[in-house]
Amino acid sequence: MLGPFEEWLGILLRWIHVITAIMWIGDSLLFMWLDKHMYEDPEKRPYVTGITWLIHGGSYYTVEKRPLKAGKLPPRLRWFWMEATGTWISGFLLLIVVYWLSASSYMVDPDVRPLSGLQAVGVSLGSIVGSWILYDGLWRTPLRHRTLLCGSITLAYLFGLDWWLTHTLSGRAAFLQMGAVMASLMAFNVWIHIIPPQRKMYSTAAEGGEVDYGLGKHAKFRSTHNTYFTFPVIFLMLSNHFAGIFGHPLNWLLMALFIVFGAGMRHLFLVGFTTAGKIAGAFAALSTAAIFWVTWPAPKPPAPAAGDAPPFAEVRVIVAQRCAVCHSESPGMGFVEAPKGLRLDTPREIVEAAERIKMQAVDRQVMPLGNATKMTPEEREQLGRWIAAGCPLK
Ligand code: HEC
Repeated sequence: MLGPFEEWLGILLRWIHVITAIMWIGDSLLFMWLDKHMYEDPEKRPYVTGITWLIHGGSYYTVEKRPLKAGKLPPRLRWFWMEATGTWISGFLLLIVVYWLSASSYMVDPDVRPLSGLQAVGVSLGSIVGSWILYDGLWRTPLRHRTLLCGSITLAYLFGLDWWLTHTLSGRAAFLQMGAVMASLMAFNVWIHIIPPQRKMYSTAAEGGEVDYGLGKHAKFRSTHNTYFTFPVIFLMLSNHFAGIFGHPLNWLLMALFIVFGAGMRHLFLVGFTTAGKIAGAFAALSTAAIFWVTWPAPKPPAPAAGDAPPFAEVRVIVAQRCAVCHSESPGMGFVEAPKGLRLDTPREIVEAAERIKMQAVDRQVMPLGNATKMTPEEREQLGRWIAAGCPLK
């Protein structure tokens, strides 16, 4: 809890994080596109393995793909590591500022598992470090040559982690945490498996030695992994806006479906409408259908007559005790301002927010945050009946 400074730092870090992430993903998608659109050099120069032409701002850009070779090194080279590094560092700081510093309210949901804040931080850090050790270890074994098998083991691991996180942390934190794990695998790949081998190839070529092209293949292999993580990570990072997803009773299934969807779309983009591409596209389409099916609103029970609704006086007490502790003009629990500007002090404020209250506290039960104010199921049910009856003020 850093007070007003926390909000300030949150804005600054988010801003840096979003910009560096856009640059990283943009570069990565551009190189994927380039690799898929390399054509034979019309001049048939032996050291050019592919060529393509782009137009932007009224000029042509000619991009040639060449292997690193002694005596043929360019005068300058742009290395792509700063985007990944900036994204990871700003993201890790955000994880600390937003989640770790408020772990007991943001990361813990006693209905899921009654952890202490420190334990939740341990889960967060442990899942990042542990996942890297397992993922990297797996892809160092000879099994890595059997991509389909090794890819399936990786996916199964991610599903297992999804299940564990959603059954250990609050739904919101579990989704974000999964994103942090996958994004960390991507950044560590850049630092350990992508940049160093290329540096080695470059220095060998600069010294006039025989370049080991296997190193480049290895770097490309890990960067291909990264592209499969990209789309799921984007969804997971944005997921905290969607209480209907992370607060859903089947949130672990939804997370798995979004991962399949993202990776499937990525495969389709990479290989196009080949058989493998069509299979990946079919998986993506099926998971989209399943997501709709799982989250389709249940048929509403008939609205109770106003007579069945609890009196407003009762509702007001529930909201005051369970919500207005935080959602108030003068909030407690370490908040300097009402979270998201939502105040529930006056009858008018409560009635105006009725739909949002229903969504967060009745349908999805993600509020009160971490059930800090110990709201009971009966109270949720009472709120639901009052809202369904049209929020009568008597
Ligand atoms: C411990 C403090 C706390 C309590 C208690 C609490 N909330 Fe919240 N609430 C928050 C925080 C923090 C957020 C912002 C979450 C975020 O950043 O997405 C929030 C967000 C919301 C939002 C989403 C606003 C928006 O448009 O994004 C709604 C609606 C909401 N709360 C309703 C409630 C209701 C209803 C209750 C009582 C049943 C309640 N809250 C109890 C802290 C609390």
